[in-house]
Amino acid sequence: MNTYKICLLPGDGIGPEIIAEGVKVLNAVGAKYDTAFEYADALIGGAAIDVTGEPLPQATLEAARASDAVLLAAVGGPKWDTTDPNAPRPEQGLLGIRKELGLYTNLRPVQIFNALADASTLRPEIVDGVDMMIVRELTGGLYFGRRERFYDEPAAGVDGAPGQRAYDTLEYSEYEIERIARQAFEIARKRRGKVTSVDKANVLETSRLWREIVHRVHDEAYADVQLEDLLVDNTAMQLINRPADFDVVVTENMFGDILSDEAAQITGSLGMLASASLGDGVALYEPSHGSAPDIAGRGIANPLAQILSVEMMLRYSFDMADAADDIRRAVTEVLDEGWRTGDIKDAETPADHVVGTERMGDLVVAHL
Ligand code: NAD
Ligand code: IPM
Ligand code: MN
Repeated sequence: MNTYKICLLPGDGIGPEIIAEGVKVLNAVGAKYDTAFEYADALIGGAAIDVTGEPLPQATLEAARASDAVLLAAVGGPKWDTTDPNAPRPEQGLLGIRKELGLYTNLRPVQIFNALADASTLRPEIVDGVDMMIVRELTGGLYFGRRERFYDEPAAGVDGAPGQRAYDTLEYSEYEIERIARQAFEIARKRRGKVTSVDKANVLETSRLWREIVHRVHDEAYADVQLEDLLVDNTAMQLINRPADFDVVVTENMFGDILSDEAAQITGSLGMLASASLGDGVALYEPSHGSAPDIAGRGIANPLAQILSVEMMLRYSFDMADAADDIRRAVTEVLDEGWRTGDIKDAETPADHVVGTERMGDLVVAHL
């Protein structure tokens, strides 16, 4: 029997509610595939700030490093929102663990479950056949640049006007761009063989470097893959206009953050979008959505993005493709039977098929 150690990071808001369903699914998979999953819970985000004063305690990093994979739910919430730039923020825990574990590749698969075609805000014929992989660079760019805030400086601003100012720097190195480009091309080879590289090369120097390096990597080693460049503003529009045309979309950290929330809505809900954050060591799996403070504590959050993140964990970290396929099949069947959480229900969903977080998890387990 194989044994895998999984570090669980429930975090904040709906985090503890949805991660419980991910664990339920893991346990069911373990029983079916003769695999033991051992869990170690650790603190991150606001929950960690409350107990230790820090969003990413050293013990959490150690637990993550000692595991075979990390399952994270979500961090953040109004309780920890602060205007003090020196106060700890939950999001620093997430950014910190991504950086510390070297998780530079974030995969966000945007796929349509047929049963949910009507849950999209786009027409069914537009979303039909959507199957794209967003490859987001995760440890560089604006998120990790230098930043500073200046308070009420007399006549010091860019425009010479008095008042506060602030800056964040956007920097990318050739090395960072090259390694994420390789990931995108490798993934495209196993899919439909097309990469869309998204940048703002008409304005930003980092984007011009991005485009140059992506093309060099392509020409040197991946000429069999079709490569197109698309400016980020145009991409935001084309995602809605012709989402089924996209195969692999590779982009820098901030653009990937924004475009993936947009793409999630094509599938019906942000509550459906899983993600895998990969580097050279232990990987981390988490839904693409946040802690949804507006619905936290009510047992109504959609656990499917978390459950589909477990699917990715089985596929990428444990080489358990059959078990991963099994989870996808189970989720597909549950949706085909018409079960919906509040975020994916529509006008035709019968009231007795609108279920909460726990029930949705139980339904997936029952189909495994
Ligand atoms: P959010 O993703 O938490 O929520 C956006 C909207 O989607 C809300 O209406 C929410 O109710 C809904 N939603 C999200 N997940 C859902 C689910 N599983 N089921 C049903 N509905 C769902 O984004 P936000 O409200 O802008 O941010 C809230 C907090 O989450 C902030 O503190 C933010 O920093 C944090 N955040 C964390 C992560 C993460 O941990 N990976 C990601 C995004 C945002
Ligand atoms: C995400 C989130 C995070 C990000 C925040 C919470 C730091 O929005 O995982 O998409 O911007 O990367
Ligand atoms: Mn985001």
